[in-house]
Order: sequence, then C-alpha cells, then structure tokens
Amino acid sequence: MCGIVGYIGSREAYPILVKGLKRLEYRGYDSAGVALISNADQQLNVYKAKGKVSELESFVESKDISGKIGIAHTRWATHGEPCSANAHPHYSSSETLALIHNGIIENYAVLKENLQAKGYEFKSSTDTEVLVQLIEYIKVTNNLDLLTAVQLALQEVIGAYAIAVVEKDHPEQIIAARKSSPLVVGIGEDEYFLASDATPIVEYTDKVVYLNDEEIAVINRGEELKIVDLHNVEITPDVKTVVMNIGQLEKGGYPHFMLKEIFEQPDCILDCMRGRVNVEGTNVVLSAVIDHKERLIKAKRFVIVACGTSWHAALIGKHLIESFCRIPVEVEYASEFRYRDPVIDEQDVVLAISQSGETADTLAAVELAKSRGAFIYGICNAIGSSIPRATNTGSYIHVGPEIGVASTKAFTGQVTVLTMLALTLAKEKNTISEKEYLEIVQELNHIPEKMKQVLELNKQIAELSKIFTYAHNFIYLGRGYSYPVALEGALKLKEISYIHAEGYPAAEMKHGPIALIDAEMPVVVIATHNGLYEKVLSNIQEIKARKGKVIAIVSEGDTIIKNIADICIELPTTLECLDPLITTVPLQMLAYHIAVCKGMDVDQPRNLAKSVTVE
Ligand code: AGP
Ligand code: GLU
Repeated sequence: MCGIVGYIGSREAYPILVKGLKRLEYRGYDSAGVALISNADQQLNVYKAKGKVSELESFVESKDISGKIGIAHTRWATHGEPCSANAHPHYSSSETLALIHNGIIENYAVLKENLQAKGYEFKSSTDTEVLVQLIEYIKVTNNLDLLTAVQLALQEVIGAYAIAVVEKDHPEQIIAARKSSPLVVGIGEDEYFLASDATPIVEYTDKVVYLNDEEIAVINRGEELKIVDLHNVEITPDVKTVVMNIGQLEKGGYPHFMLKEIFEQPDCILDCMRGRVNVEGTNVVLSAVIDHKERLIKAKRFVIVACGTSWHAALIGKHLIESFCRIPVEVEYASEFRYRDPVIDEQDVVLAISQSGETADTLAAVELAKSRGAFIYGICNAIGSSIPRATNTGSYIHVGPEIGVASTKAFTGQVTVLTMLALTLAKEKNTISEKEYLEIVQELNHIPEKMKQVLELNKQIAELSKIFTYAHNFIYLGRGYSYPVALEGALKLKEISYIHAEGYPAAEMKHGPIALIDAEMPVVVIATHNGLYEKVLSNIQEIKARKGKVIAIVSEGDTIIKNIADICIELPTTLECLDPLITTVPLQMLAYHIAVCKGMDVDQPRNLAKSVTVE
C-alpha cells in the first residue's frame, strides 16, 4: 500500500515531505524513508528507519536534511520484512538514483535473476529494489536519460506501481509514473508536489493532476508539467481543482482519528444527503440514478462488489434494493469475484463500493465486469480516486477524508447513499408506495439528530468496555438488516483490539456457534424493536440459558430484554430499514473503548493499512 510524497521547488523539501508522510501514514507504517539532494554539495542522501514516521524524524536529527528536491515513503510491506534495509527509498547500485514505490512488481524474481547474472547486488529483499536497479542498468548500458530508462524499464515490468525517481546529477527533475496504484501531482507557484492522494498537497495548492495508468509525469523545476506515456507520446495534463478542508485532516482535540470520525457521523450524514434529500424531507434524488434510470431499471440483476467494511455495507444495500426496487442483488467479495470467471454480461449492473476508491481487488472486479459489458456504478469516498474514474457513473458519499484505519463514518455514509439509491430507483420504478417512500425519506432526515443522541452514550460505553478487556473472543448477533451490522461490529473489534470476534445471523447460532457459549463469552446482540424482535428475544434466552454474557443493543424503553440481558444499550427508535445507521454507532464506540482500555494503537492497528492497493 505505502504512501508516496515528493517535492521540487524553492522551499526546503524535508518538512513538506515529513508532514506529507504523516498524512499518508494511514496507508502503511512499517518503515519510513526520505531521499534528498542536498543544497551545498549535491549529495543524494537517503535516510530510512523502521517504524513510524516519528522514528525517521529521530533518526535524521543530526543528518544533513537540506534539499529543495526530495521524495519520501511510508511502507506497508509486501515483499521483505519491515526493517530499515527494506524501507524505501532504494538506491541503485551506483547510488546515483533513488526510487520509491507503491505496489508489487510481480515478475521481480525473473528480473532480479537477470540483473544478478549481470553482476548487480541487492541490499534488500523487496520487489522494489529490482526496479531501481533495472532502470540504472538500462540507463547505463544504453547511455540514456532517466526518462527513457524509466520508460523502457516499465515496459518490462508486470504488476502495479506508483513510483518516483530522483537522480543525483539532476536536482532539477523528478520522474514519476503509475499503473494500478494512485499518484497525484500538485501544481503550485514554481513548485510541484507529488503524493499518493491529495491530502499532503491541499495545504499548498488546489490544482492537481491525477495520473492515469501507464502515464509518466516529467516534473522539471521551473518548467511546465509534462506527461508522457511509456512510448513517449505526450498527453495533455487534465488539471483538476480539489476542495479539502485542512481541519478534516487533523484530530481536532480528539485523542484518536477514529473517535473523531465516529463523532463526525451526524454531520457526515448531513453532508452526504445535502442536495439530495430536500429540507422538507419529502423527496430524495440521487442524480446518477436519474441520469441512468433506464439502464438501471432494465437491469436483470445488480451485483455489488466490495471488500471489508464496504462489503458489509453492500449486504445492507442488497436488503434495501431488493425490498424497495424488487431487483435481485448479489453481493460478492471483490477478491473472489475477479478470480472466478463470474457469469456477468451487459444486462447486469455492478455496484462497486469503496471508501478509498483504490482497493486493488475492487478495482480489478470493476475492470472485469466492464470488459463483459456490465454497467458500473461506483459508491466511493475519495474524490478522483481510481474506482470512480473507472466506472460509468456513481455517487460520492461525501463524508470527508477518513484517516483512522478502522472505517466508521465511511460505512454509515455508504449505507446512506445505498438508501438514497434504493429510494430514488424505487420511485422511478414504481415499486414503493408513496406512503412508505415519504415515511422513509422523512425519517432519513432525522437520522443525524438520532445519531447525536447515540453519541451521548459514549461515557456509558467507555465504562462498560472496561469489563470486557479480559475477553479473548466475542460473538455478535443480528438478524435481517442487523446481521451485516453484527459483522461490522465484530470486524471493528478484531481490527483494533485484536480480540477474536465473529458475527452471525442470530438464528444461525443454534447450528454450531452456540457450542462456544459459556460464562466467559460476551455476546453482543442487536435486538431493536423491529419485525424480528420476538425471534431475537428467543436467541437471547438461548444464550442466557448457557450462561453467556449478553450485551443487548435495544430500543429506548425496552423493558423485556432489560430483565434478561447483562447489559443494555438503549438507542432511539427508527424504521427497520434505517436501523443500521443507528445500531452501528454503539458498536464502533464499544470496539474503540475496549481497544483504548487495552492500550492498543487504535488509529494504526498492527498489520493493517487503510488503502489495500495490493491484491
Ligand atoms: C475497515 O475497517 C477495514 N479497515 C477494511 O476492511 C476496509 O473496509 C477494506 O479494506 C475496504 O476498503 P475500501 O472501502 O477503501 O475499498
Ligand atoms: N512491494 C513494495 C514493498 O514491499 C511496496 C509495498 C506496497 O506498496 O504496499 O516494499
């Protein structure tokens, strides 16, 4: 996954690069490194340290960090353990080139063998080092300039890359390229920035160019940005304006981004609905649905592809679209779908859900479905990211940058967009009664207010979390719309507290998982007042009969479950189809507080990264 940053201009590069790396640390944090061409003696200095960016900062304390050109990297290891030798940037053998890379060079082993046969020695066990050595080999043996050597090297590479290369004797130039990994160039006043996403760039300029696959940016100090392809055909840069609020990129007084993002949800949902649901709460319009309504209405079926939390949102989407639009919906793990030769054709509509818009498996699923003629609709958060650019149409969730690795506000944003999509389409298709439509739209307008009430339970949840730090396992149960919420609650706990947790449809418990229940086992049950309340109540009885500890998520005023469960978290009532927007929030808080009590690194849990741009 990795985060990439680059700078060339008249300012000192190091502070800009380090600040940028911190913004991108959500993408990986195994090790960090920087390459700078020094001001006084034009040395190409590379400094690297294992661990987070702060380790790099300590490491460079007594070093020469001058330079008005530099590249930097924060790593999420794919090939080779996290250590200083495997950290990027990687030098070429002569130490005249330094390169950073996000992605995987799939044919690295063959390339490495060839280079070793020619006498090249390798200092790391990464796939990346092969690329910088290959560029140097091509450059030196054919006496070429850096750009041509990069173009030829990339023609030999199979895999995914976003790279940036600097050359000791050319402190005027950065060469950057991408294929299947994101890369953005920021255009300032006589200066250029480079990054994996726009967040490190937005405080300096709002003019950006998102590179497309197999495009190379030739960034020369004091010259216009030039973009060419691997065969040197020039491409006119498509300069876009990004709007991002710097405050959204900082913690704003919260101890962690995750907590900040949990608390932002009422505002995020308002932003997500802005211009889509009218203030009177009588109408909802998702313009992409209206623009493509014929295509959507005539779809034989919808297939939703996604990963992780976005896949959980997809399960809720299935329920919503099938209930209101009467269109069959299949939900697929993008990673399974793409390798299965799925039956998919031009009569299908594929919805791709992704917070980052960069998840490699989801992007590949989109490309596959597109090649078979399906119509692709994206539901993403990161504006201008790869998935929205690969789709036929789509709707952004507009919840602002999500930095905490555990997804929170993106999930509720995705569910909100899926609700609006189902309502807009159902109205166009005439598969919903006016009464029901009105009731849901009006209630959707009340969700932000109700979420605020849920957030007031933060203290209560923080207290009860202390009880459960002992647990090694957790079970989460829900039915209907609450089943995906149970899965999401379990995923949140696993990710940040490292407690093993499983989500099940409540009625499935008796088919196996019930064997796990004993007096030690905490079971979170979503048991709000809806059509399946009585059934879930029986499931709670079954757990209590086996002495399990029940933490019940119930509707305000519930008296029955209160007498049975060990702990009750009472939530404002809403319509069954909107319940996930309310019931997810206490589960996010529960996972957060248990992880905090256990002293875990909530925003950057081990082994994870925010954007999974590897397959
Ligand atoms: C969620 O908490 C996870 N960190 C992860 O499962 C995530 O949802 C998944 O990697 C998909 O990411 P995307 O939405 O950016 O595609
Ligand atoms: N494959 C490279 C490495 O392991 C880059 C990793 C990535 O981008 O995730 O160093």
